[in-house]
Amino acid sequence: MPEPLIVVANRLPLTLRRAGGRWTAEASSGGLVAALTPVVQRAGGLWIGWPGDAPGDDPEGRAALLEAWERERGFAAVDLPERVGRAFYDGFANDTLWPLLHGFPSRAVFNPETFVAYQDANQRFADAVLERARPDDLIWVHDYQLMLVPALLRAAWPGLRIGFFLHVPFPPPELFRILPQRDQLLVGLLGADVIGFQTHEHLGAFRRAVQQVLGIESRIDAIEVGGRSIALHARPVGIVADEWDELVDSPRVREHVAQLRRQHAGRRLVLAVDRLDDTKGIPERLRTFRHLLATQPHWRRAVTLVQIAVPSRERVPRYAALRREVNELVGEINGAYGTPDWSPIVYLRRSVSRPELAALYSVADVGWVGSLRDGMNLVAKEYVACQREDPGVLLLSEFAGAASEMGEAVRINPYDTPGTAAALARALDMPEAERAERHAALVSRVRRNDAVSWARRSVADLEQAPRDRALSAASAGEPPVAALLDAFAAAPERLCALDYDGTLVPLAPRPSDAAPTPAVLELVERLARRAGTHVAVVSGRSRADLERWFGGMSSLWLAAEHGALVREPGAADWQPMRQGAGSDWMPDVRAVLDHYLARVPGSMIEEKEHALAWHYRLVEPEFGEWIANEVAATLGERLAGTELAVLRGSKVVEVRYAWANKGELMGYLQSRIGPAAFLLVAGDDATDEDMFARVPPDAFTIHVGAGRTAARYRVAEPAAVLALIAALAGARPADPLAAGALDAVGAQAAGRRERTARTRT
Ligand code: UDP
Ligand code: G6P
Repeated sequence: MPEPLIVVANRLPLTLRRAGGRWTAEASSGGLVAALTPVVQRAGGLWIGWPGDAPGDDPEGRAALLEAWERERGFAAVDLPERVGRAFYDGFANDTLWPLLHGFPSRAVFNPETFVAYQDANQRFADAVLERARPDDLIWVHDYQLMLVPALLRAAWPGLRIGFFLHVPFPPPELFRILPQRDQLLVGLLGADVIGFQTHEHLGAFRRAVQQVLGIESRIDAIEVGGRSIALHARPVGIVADEWDELVDSPRVREHVAQLRRQHAGRRLVLAVDRLDDTKGIPERLRTFRHLLATQPHWRRAVTLVQIAVPSRERVPRYAALRREVNELVGEINGAYGTPDWSPIVYLRRSVSRPELAALYSVADVGWVGSLRDGMNLVAKEYVACQREDPGVLLLSEFAGAASEMGEAVRINPYDTPGTAAALARALDMPEAERAERHAALVSRVRRNDAVSWARRSVADLEQAPRDRALSAASAGEPPVAALLDAFAAAPERLCALDYDGTLVPLAPRPSDAAPTPAVLELVERLARRAGTHVAVVSGRSRADLERWFGGMSSLWLAAEHGALVREPGAADWQPMRQGAGSDWMPDVRAVLDHYLARVPGSMIEEKEHALAWHYRLVEPEFGEWIANEVAATLGERLAGTELAVLRGSKVVEVRYAWANKGELMGYLQSRIGPAAFLLVAGDDATDEDMFARVPPDAFTIHVGAGRTAARYRVAEPAAVLALIAALAGARPADPLAAGALDAVGAQAAGRRERTARTRT
């Protein structure tokens, strides 16, 4: 990997513990550390993370140790004050986010104070990055503990290349929306250039949450926001199979394997390896195993379940309760079915060394992954990688991310006790040929999609980031207010073409709610009254709407229905932009739209003189987009070869004459007015892009809002357009309306200056 890599993850590969008056470093557990450690080692990158327990009685000794970690191993520690650490890690991260993201909202605890600690901790991680990062570095932030970090980094250093990977699932949006801080978390993630997920399912759920919570539409592989393009990928994390091969082939592990075989001679071994976590389905597994022993007695004394449960997050009450439940179940089952020479369950509540684990993986006849929900589950892949000749069977929960890649495993629903017990019996009885066939397919995929290729592809995605950003930023920065005012003042003739909805007024749920305020009307009229200034309000709306609001202003050009109809300044009547436009096509199209109106609650039809529009602003967003595609496709087929066109606008599908578009209108206006040295064009949606495309490259073209655009400049909202109009109209700062508007321009310019100053070299 050519570019320097900085990994930011809550957990460092080593965890500090204070025991017996001295500091010890233990290998950290969990899939994130397992996947990233070899990657960072190979890339020689820096890992910024939390080292575990806060300073106790020997802060100097601890600090010296942590300094050595950074110097010698590239592990940079972010220390959190104990109070923050607890509320952030035990609280918001593991008592709120973890259960919610895994789809268990009733287990989530909602406490606003822990979110304050989460913000504080995320800021400390971001600061640790900013202290160390250089401009060329690739910053790769990981997992649910650090969802605010991308936006914090972006705000402090806009040019940084930032990736984010979510190791856990992203839940269906109706669950995610329960979270009071849902907006902040999504905005936090959108600070990244690239966001990676374990599966397409998680990626899709994230896109729907962004749409429902923030109202931002996306493509299947990207979100455009604030002039940036954020790439979205499903990149399932893998293991480093070579390292497990080396272990399995090592003399120490072989010896251990031989010993295990002797100990369990004549019995089948079923292996389960989990952190002691309530998403892993450990009690469900134990109950299933009890069911097998109870209902199929021939398996008694013939099979042993080895359950490794690595202690995890023990201060969180849910985890303590789980520990008790599992202890009880193990005791009960062993008590009920055990014999002097056989315990049904061998329960190890501790972590095991990798050689010990490799030996267990290679001797086990069945590897049993029973997660109720899991981002990926690397244990499934490790088990497959360690199996050799006469391979065993992987029993895999359909609710683990791994299930989307490991179709040849025996799939189980861990909630279905008899069904899973039957699957276990089938796995134990499976003929060798079938086992070998399933294993061959699984192992080749596990080797191909390993952690190294996962990291290589993720980092390559991130390396693309600056090019994408440069493109969209170059095409739409903030407007140069001073230069714009100078050009306006210097030009004898000026043309300002202003879209209405979303440009002069914010979009409203119902079109009739988006009436202009008196202040908007006054500003537009004031601009149109300036000598040599032609102002056109260019809209997709009907002439009746424009007439009602702007009819009294004789100095304005008005263009309705995207330019199909025009009213010149001072004229009493509207004229079609082209002669001969009729409406006999309408009944047919109306019949199609009526069909959808009846089927799609919340949709509505707008009849114009030269167009028919089907609006779906009030329809559930995802369904609306899906059905709008169908409407557009149906109409497109019917109208092929006619003069009519089907157009997609913002939450609307419209049929109108192909020439009735705002681009043609720009040509028409320029031909009627004559050459204007100053051209300002502002608009917010796809129909306005036709105007941007039709004017010379040095025109001041302004796009309002997020999304790709051919405009040169971008502002966030209609208020900023009004601010510019106020400045051009020469409104005196004493005028309260104009003063407010000018403040907005000033604030925008100040924001730009501040960001420029913070950009580091
Ligand atoms: N593991 C570990 N210590 C142990 C047992 C297992 O570190 O004593 C590792 C295991 O090898 C695997 C990881 O922990 O790489 C568990 O990852 P998984 O994706 O299955 O679940 P997670 O714990 O991340 O939820
Ligand atoms: C899962 C999470 C990781 C976490 C790991 C261990 O894999 O996705 O972010 O590091 O569990 O949990 P812990 O709380 O000990 O870091």
